[in-house]
Amino acid sequence: MSPLPENTLIGMCNPLLDIQTTVQKAFLEKWGLKENDAILCDDKLVGMFEELIKEHQVEYIPGGAAQNSLRVAQWILNAPNRTVFFGAVGKDNYGDLLAEKATAAGVNVKYQVNPTVKTGTCAALINGTHRSLCAHLAAANTFTQDHLQTEENLKIIEQAKYFYVTGFFITVCPPAILQLAKHSNEFNKTFSLNLSAPFISQFFSEKLFEILPYVDVLFGNETEAEAFAAANKWETKCVKEVALKAAALPKNTSRPRLVVFTQGPDPIIVVEGDKVTEYPVTRLEKEEIVDTNGAGDAFVGGFLSQFIQGKSIEQSVECGSYAAQEIIKKNGCTVPETCKYH
Ligand code: AP5
Ligand code: NA
Repeated sequence: MSPLPENTLIGMCNPLLDIQTTVQKAFLEKWGLKENDAILCDDKLVGMFEELIKEHQVEYIPGGAAQNSLRVAQWILNAPNRTVFFGAVGKDNYGDLLAEKATAAGVNVKYQVNPTVKTGTCAALINGTHRSLCAHLAAANTFTQDHLQTEENLKIIEQAKYFYVTGFFITVCPPAILQLAKHSNEFNKTFSLNLSAPFISQFFSEKLFEILPYVDVLFGNETEAEAFAAANKWETKCVKEVALKAAALPKNTSRPRLVVFTQGPDPIIVVEGDKVTEYPVTRLEKEEIVDTNGAGDAFVGGFLSQFIQGKSIEQSVECGSYAAQEIIKKNGCTVPETCKYH
């Protein structure tokens, strides 16, 4: 294997094919789904997927949170293989499609392929300006740590300088997350984590808290910040205060933790150690908004594309906002042909 480019970013998460469509409130009510949420599919929701595909005009769009972010980072970096992705798919058309799209975007895809389980999907149910996500992880849920222990992948990990894992992956394989996190801390690299969805803080806090001391950069949005505060039994919903407290939680290395919380059109809150900065967001006009699905992932992709090049936090935030807005103007987490960011 040829050496990886300098400052390579490794991402690890669930590679999912998004099944996107617009739905009416009645559909959400029928299946007990909230307007704006991200949940995991249980047995009683399998029928929802069937009804969705049968009775709605759906679009299939490559998804999976971290894979979205890496595709966006690649789009901005405009040089292939600056990012490597780990996650599990099935041996089927959906898996092939995901690999094809991610590779075309420049992501170096290293999937663990499970021949006995189908590639995961995520229903992305658009309702007005909200979206309800329901992930059916399937093959993505079968990822095992051995995949990170092959000679080839150990070499990739050794050469990479930046790591990005989503909270979503905590439901799948915490030992794999800890392997990357510990390696990153040991070799003074940068390990970043996304809070991903309120349900991670609500139901997987024990594992989340085990990983946190290794986290150099923590991403999230306002509702995830609120759930994280509740999991810590902090009596505040103030996003700024939660960011400060999150930055101050115990950490294994002496480098201050960076916390980056987005709040849709409201200012982005960044805490570095004990210093808070608010970055205003240029609001998009209502008619410019197609759907916000993928906005947060795109923000992270844009942010990391600059951060891994050693650019300032301000520049990283600016690029994150740029990327998010480009995605909001399009369906799902898709990017325009060319990137005008420089
Ligand atoms: P989803 O959670 O929808 O994506 P997201 O990128 O997080 O989008 P959100 O709309 O939730 O954004 P956010 O709240 O994080 O960010 P914010 O609004 O603050 O997830 C999409 C993907 O998740 C799917 O592809 C799916 O496959 C995947 N997924 C679901 N479940 C999964 C699972 N279990 N495992 C793996 N993957 C899973 O916005 C961020 C920034 O955008 C702002 O700071 C701002 O700069 C900009 N922005 C937002 N709104 C505006 C606005 N109105 N005007 C201007 N700028 C704006
Ligand atoms: Na998000």
